[in-house]
Amino acid sequence: MKLSNNTVLITGGSSGIGLELTRVLSKNNNRVIICGRSEQKLNAAQAEIPGLITYQCDLSEAEQCHELANWLRKSYSELNVIINNAALVNKIDFLEDSFALDKLEIEVNTNLLAPIRLIKMLYEQITKNPHPAIINITTGLIYTPRAIYPFYNATKAALHSFTQVLRLQSKPGNCKIVEVMFPAVDTPWHDGNPPKIAIPVEQAVAEMLNGLSKGKEEIRIAGAKILYLVSRLIPGFALKKVNSLS
Ligand SMILES: NC(=O)c1ccc[n+]([C@@H]2O[C@H](COP(=O)([O-])OP(=O)(O)OC[C@H]3O[C@@H](n4cnc5c(N)ncnc54)[C@H](OP(=O)(O)O)[C@@H]3O)[C@@H](O)[C@H]2O)c1
Repeated sequence: MKLSNNTVLITGGSSGIGLELTRVLSKNNNRVIICGRSEQKLNAAQAEIPGLITYQCDLSEAEQCHELANWLRKSYSELNVIINNAALVNKIDFLEDSFALDKLEIEVNTNLLAPIRLIKMLYEQITKNPHPAIINITTGLIYTPRAIYPFYNATKAALHSFTQVLRLQSKPGNCKIVEVMFPAVDTPWHDGNPPKIAIPVEQAVAEMLNGLSKGKEEIRIAGAKILYLVSRLIPGFALKKVNSLS
């Protein structure tokens, strides 16, 4: 995949993996556009990265996904790459948490429905432009769930399945459909308490871009590669191992 001279949307480009991607992709591309809920984080990214375009929205709201897509169609018709990266996670005890169903709705809307909505609304536009690509960010946990994240694993496993179908349904050569499965990465996602196995965000993004430049469609980064293999060969062991990590 071509990694230069694109117009790129990175959802959740104001923090962690999205922000690192924004830093790197801003160097060689025509435009990088990011979105997120917090105006403050968007402004901080813009102050750091000259020429960055920001858009404040909450992707858990269907209406705001529509508004973002309309704005992109009008203002950036040259858009050709979408990176569906924004997501959130709730660590909960499903049976004990009285607000579990409210959390479910926000997580499903943000992690699963928003990427699907944006793809549906923007596919036609990006495929009119040269080198169109859709990149969905998931996790090694699509193969083996971690019990502290009852909804997160499921939203990402569903996004994995949808991405495979989208690849099968889109006309050959029309649009590159890529999925990137990350292992634990040291970002604000972990609220200052990343797991011991977390890799640096710079390494995670460098490996992702390396996979993209080689034209890979499913890019498993570091530990996600191992989890994929172990979950295929000895699934019971993989489930125990993933749930014994501190
Ligand atoms: N870090 C890890 O260990 C890890 C491992 C595997 C996969 N991943 C995946 O990598 C991606 C990025 O994670 P990260 O670690 O970089 O997390 P992060 O630092 O928490 O960043 C998440 C980004 O998403 C945005 N966001 C969250 N909810 C949103 C919403 N409703 N509407 C719009 N923007 C929203 C956040 O901005 P606002 O808060 O301002 O909205 C932020 O910019 C996610 O898809 C995650 O599942 C991460």
